[in-house]
Amino acid sequence: MGKVVLVTGANSGVGLALCERLLSDDAQLQLCLACRSKQKAEAARQVLLDSHPKAHVSLVRLDVASMRSVLSAAEEIRQRYDRLDYLYLNAGIMPSPQVDFSALYKGLFSGKAIHMFSTGAGLLTQKDTVTSDGLQQVFATNLFGHFLLVRELEPLLCQTDHHSQVIWTSSSNACRSAFSLDDVQHEEGLEPYSSSKYASDLLSLALNRHYNSQGLYSSVICPGLVMTNLTYGILPSFIWTLIMPLMWLIRIFTNTFTLTPYNGAEALFWLFKQKPESLDPMVKYHSLTSGLGNSYTQTRKMDIDDTMSAALYQKLLELEKRVRKKLKDEDSKCTK
Ligand SMILES: NC(=O)c1ccc[n+]([C@@H]2O[C@H](COP(=O)([O-])OP(=O)(O)OC[C@H]3O[C@@H](n4cnc5c(N)ncnc54)[C@H](OP(=O)(O)O)[C@@H]3O)[C@@H](O)[C@H]2O)c1
Repeated sequence: MGKVVLVTGANSGVGLALCERLLSDDAQLQLCLACRSKQKAEAARQVLLDSHPKAHVSLVRLDVASMRSVLSAAEEIRQRYDRLDYLYLNAGIMPSPQVDFSALYKGLFSGKAIHMFSTGAGLLTQKDTVTSDGLQQVFATNLFGHFLLVRELEPLLCQTDHHSQVIWTSSSNACRSAFSLDDVQHEEGLEPYSSSKYASDLLSLALNRHYNSQGLYSSVICPGLVMTNLTYGILPSFIWTLIMPLMWLIRIFTNTFTLTPYNGAEALFWLFKQKPESLDPMVKYHSLTSGLGNSYTQTRKMDIDDTMSAALYQKLLELEKRVRKKLKDEDSKCTK
């Protein structure tokens, strides 16, 4: 049996491009697309089978923002496979993004304009909501649902005879100043996306500290600035059409404008080829693209530390306990 790979948010953008690249590299792969929409997942599967007719591509219904959905998807995955070699935690949202025009104005004259445009750091705010589990939507989607998934898939990921990799699609937008241990869900602020991505950097480090001895290794990547549904949500489409030539021009001067999902998936694919025990838990792997359009992966040290990472991990374990209890209580109320 070939390697088993599961990708969340596999039906579009960077996730779908990654799937294409994985199948082009390894025809034996058992690829599982974990998506919230059955219809979109089937369409993505068809796209992949059109270019790789003999590929093994299966689907699992997973809404990472719903803890019930995570538990039932994990159960299905445990029944279907007896190992999991790669778990790509890629699904993510940036709801109702707004450009902070005063930050934009200041950024333009601070010499940080390109960094600001390519990462959105300090430039974008979002409107968050609360899920039916009582969690902040961005936190639940980008971080906590994935954390619960890892915990549920431990038996497949932690095996003595081989190593497994958990790979998070984080972002350069991850920023220490947007995150607080006193408000891990980011209920108070206006940058839940940045907070959730910073939390995923911290969590990846904690997973390494806890699970490396059991054969599980975790890494984080940034795909660069990629034109996907997520980025098209930031500005009206006519503005994107107007500035697109400028974006391609800027790419000559900055390597973080990866722009295409194929190039954005570079670091995700690069990690697929690495021995996990050789990876550095303190770095982020960046997909970059040269002015001539060649993509490559580069490491950059993250602004994280073990103390903060361990504290977040503890908080997530406590929250997991509360969420599991809430679901159990709801179940027992229903059966009464
Ligand atoms: N594009 C960029 O410039 C950029 C930069 C840095 C990081 N990223 C990260 O890259 C990752 C992929 O995003 P993308 O740019 O490829 O955007 P995208 O095309 O919008 O892909 C996001 C994927 O996540 C899925 N998703 C969202 N909420 C979900 C949920 N509750 N349960 C299951 N799946 C869910 C989406 O499914 P639906 O189709 O059903 O919505 C979609 O498949 C995200 O984590 C994003 O934060 C992107």
